[in-house]
This record gives sequence, structure tokens and C-alpha cells, in this order.
Amino acid sequence: MYLISTFHSILAMALTLAIPGQAAPSQSLTSRATSDLPLTAQLKLANTATERYALLPNDSDFLYDFTASSNNETALPIASSQNWPALVGVGLSFSISQRPACTMSFLHLHPRATELFAVTSGRIQSYMVPETGVTDAQGNQRVVSTELTAGMVTVYPAGSFHTQVNPDCQAANFSAAFNSEEFAVGLVSARLFALPDEVVSRALGGVGVDEVQRIRGLVPDEAALVVGECVKKCGL
Ligand SMILES: *[C@@H]1O[C@H](CO)[C@@H](O)[C@H](O)[C@H]1NC(C)=O
Ligand SMILES: *[C@@H]1O[C@H](CO)[C@@H](O)[C@H](O)[C@H]1NC(C)=O
Ligand SMILES: *[C@@H]1O[C@H](CO)[C@@H](O)[C@H](O)[C@H]1NC(C)=O
Repeated sequence: MYLISTFHSILAMALTLAIPGQAAPSQSLTSRATSDLPLTAQLKLANTATERYALLPNDSDFLYDFTASSNNETALPIASSQNWPALVGVGLSFSISQRPACTMSFLHLHPRATELFAVTSGRIQSYMVPETGVTDAQGNQRVVSTELTAGMVTVYPAGSFHTQVNPDCQAANFSAAFNSEEFAVGLVSARLFALPDEVVSRALGGVGVDEVQRIRGLVPDEAALVVGECVKKCGL
């Protein structure tokens, strides 16, 4: 009896919550759509998925062309809710890109997303550092090192540090899926060295402040780090 009445009150509450627009102003979505808000913001404010479809009336709104964005050198080869509004509410984003010959990506993490990283041509050496407490047989922090060629996928759990090296003389093509529509990147070295000298010094076990400043000056701000030996091997 108790269970049944509890069930009924939960059901009643669920039905109340499901009735659209009870407490909402009577202003229609279409008039809100004419507001000055960016489309992404309008989509985030939409009450329902049906309203979001109404804000994306063109079938072409559901197409993202990576070949078009790679023709524009300033455009990132990333489709997220920020540049592809159809992803609002979907919970995913996607990338199709290349790792140039003899380069390594920044050591980075994604604060809100797990990444599936798939190689479609070439070869990638991948390194992933899982969360603290994940140790190898010797009790040291575990580092997952994998080599991927076309048709292989690896996973970078949300928050794990990772980087990819292309050790070959040709570019490697890859695609990557993220389980957040706004996945974002955190650059590990840049974030560590953003702290005051004394804090970095203590974090590194008491390294001198001069040394901290010297290393901070070396942290690169290029998106791709060149792998010296490879450049020599490939005569680039
Ligand atoms: C739909 O697409 C066409 C052509 O691609 C464009 O001219 C039109 O402005 C679009 N309409 C909306 C509402 O975005
Ligand atoms: C290139 O992409 C940037 C960023 O998305 C955009 O602001 C710019 O208008 C684009 N330029 C061209 C020529 O399409
Ligand atoms: C890698 O991607 C580029 C750019 O999309 C493409 O032109 C090239 O054919 C691809 N290479 C291979 C081997 O698939």
C-alpha cells in the first residue's frame, strides 16, 4: 500500500513535470528565436528537443563539412556546439584532422570529455597517463603507451593526460569523438607553469626559482612540437 501510494505520487510529480510550459511565459519560441542571442545560446534555452529542431530549419544545419573548414586555415578541425549548433543537446563533439610528419601534440587533457581517438592513415605513438592511484607492476604511476595504425582506436578517459607522436615522414590522419559537446583542452605544461614561481618550485620538489623561470621560458606555444630526430631522418 505504502509502495503503491508512493508510486502514485512519484507518477503525479513526473506528469506535472512533463506538462510543457506550465510556469513558462507564453512567449513563443519563434519570437524568442528573433532575439539577438547567438543560435547556440537560443538552442540551449529551448524548452524541448522539438523546439531545437524548429531553430534548425535547414537540412544543411545538420551537416558539418570538415573539408570546407580545412580550406580555412584559421578554422579548427573540430566540430563542437560552439561552431556546429546542431550539437547542442547531443552531448558529443567530433574532430577529423592530421598530425603532421615528425610532430607531437601538446601534452593535454580534456576536462569534460572522454576521447576515442582513431587513426585512419599513417602511424601514431600514443601516451596516456591515467588518474593518480593507477600504478604499474613496480608501483609507479602507470603510463599507457600504444602504437596505432589505420583502423585502430584508443581511449583517453576524461581528465587523463595524453599526447600523440607521429614518428614518420608522412602526415597521419585521425578522427576523434568526445562525449561532451564542448569538450575543451587543458595544456598540462602551460597550466603548471602559470602558477607563481615559488608554487611551481615547491610542486617540483624544491627546484630553484631560476630553474623554474628558465623552464617556463622553454614551454612552447606552438600547437605541434617538432620531433628533432625524425626531422633529420626525413630530411624535412
Ligand atoms: C537555409 O539555407 C539556405 C541555402 O543554403 C539559405 O539561403 C537560408 O538562409 C537558410 N535558412 C535559414 C533559416 O537558415
Ligand atoms: C575562417 O574561420 C574563422 C573561424 O571560424 C572565421 O571567423 C572566418 O570568417 C573564416 N574565414 C573564411 C574566409 O571563411
Ligand atoms: C589524409 O587527409 C588528407 C586531408 O583530408 C587527405 O587529403 C589525404 O588523402 C589523407 N591521406 C590518406 C592516406 O588517407
